[in-house]
Amino acid sequence: MGNVVIAGAQWGDEGKGKIVDLFSERFDIVARYQGGHNAGHTVRIGEKTFVLKLIPSGILRPGKQAVIGNGLVIDPAALLAEIEALEAAGVDVAGQLRISNRAHVIFPFHRMMEKMSEDRPGRISIGTTSRGIGPCYEDKIARRGIRMADLLDPGRFSAQYDALAEEKEIIARALDIHERMDFAGIRARYETFAERLRPMVCDTALLLNRAMREGKRILFEGAQGTMLDIDHGTYPFVTSSSATAGGASTGTGVGPTRIQAVIGISKAYATRVGSGPFPTEARDALGDEIRRIGNEFGSVTGRPRRCGWFDVPLIRYTAMINGFDSIAMTKLDVLDSLERIPVCVAYKVGGREVEGMPASASEMEQIEPCYEYLPGWRTSTSGITSYEKLPRQAKDYLQYLEEATSVEIGCVSVGPERNQTIVAAGSRFEAALA
Ligand code: GDP
Ligand code: IMO
Ligand code: MG
Repeated sequence: MGNVVIAGAQWGDEGKGKIVDLFSERFDIVARYQGGHNAGHTVRIGEKTFVLKLIPSGILRPGKQAVIGNGLVIDPAALLAEIEALEAAGVDVAGQLRISNRAHVIFPFHRMMEKMSEDRPGRISIGTTSRGIGPCYEDKIARRGIRMADLLDPGRFSAQYDALAEEKEIIARALDIHERMDFAGIRARYETFAERLRPMVCDTALLLNRAMREGKRILFEGAQGTMLDIDHGTYPFVTSSSATAGGASTGTGVGPTRIQAVIGISKAYATRVGSGPFPTEARDALGDEIRRIGNEFGSVTGRPRRCGWFDVPLIRYTAMINGFDSIAMTKLDVLDSLERIPVCVAYKVGGREVEGMPASASEMEQIEPCYEYLPGWRTSTSGITSYEKLPRQAKDYLQYLEEATSVEIGCVSVGPERNQTIVAAGSRFEAALA
């Protein structure tokens, strides 16, 4: 079914990479639409594990085109390192990857600005990935950013860079930051990066729209998750881009009328990395147990992920914001050993039930989650390949969540491998994949 968006339904790391890999077999192009190398999308292919950061996961399928859309922020050094690693693994990156000439460029001073913002007394620390993502988007919105097209234009780049760098130097001095930065050296280094990236940079909106006219299918690979979205997430504890399905359109230049389905990815429980409200966080031994079994450590930063329980009000909210047609529920196997599984079914604030999602982080911090406890199945699901063969309690768990959230669960993942994926026959998920 046409073109499909894959978006995170929680706080990122839901297993988007694995599901994108499943879809990309049937699609011609996989396009990222926002974020940068703050993302870490894991794809396991047999003995090999790939963690993709900036490059769409579709690059791992030979012959498929991978597009870095205009909505991304690109650190050229990180991108080149990722390209080299993929080339060493035998991937034809030069043949498959195209990069938008409208994507913005991250510079080392963006990381310096981020450090300043995160460490400064009195400022809210977000617990960012320290990749310079937020400050680069700040420059984009302030209309002083440098885009790939500028980086590739020697006549323009030098002057633009010097103006931006001078501004950062002034700010650093005013804020008493003593980190030494070789601004001229950075300029020279970026000029060499430009030459290496030049053959892959083009007008990707044109490329995608042309491809659609030729009958090709596009898969949009979201990064982060809905609760990290700049508008709809737990602001200010969010990333600086539009991680929700709507971002697919603005972040690639493909009109919303050209998108036929939106698939949400959610874990069978919940995790979050970094600071900010997390109503169902399990700050106890069971939370630690989930972290251990689920190997919940950041694929980019290695930070331990905060673990907690499936949150029905949250998924109802993220399904509404994205218009999910179906959800892929990942990491069901992580719950295999539990005797009973807590599920948050409602929110209370000050003892009173609340509807919807509070807009302010401080209000979200006051949420008292109301739990139902569902029986566990206490048997391994990791070798199961059909929905019918899942233990009865696992099917009941899935059906309960489906009814409580009013969203179809069209796919269940029971392990990191490609073949540990169950697609429900006759589901909207199956239709989106077909
Ligand atoms: P993404 O950022 O949404 O692509 O997710 P990450 O790759 O950061 O994190 C998901 C992690 O869970 C990766 O290590 C995957 O290999 C792993 N994973 C994905 N699906 C499953 C699953 O069903 N079961 C288990 N045990 N691991 C999974
Ligand atoms: P994927 O695509 C999980 C979090 C950071 C921090 C906040 C802001 O792998 O799901 P940033 O560096 O973006 O300014 O940090 O967002 N964060 C993620 N958490 N998965 C991600 O990506 C994330 N990308 C950013 O931990 O809380
Ligand atoms: Mg990740």
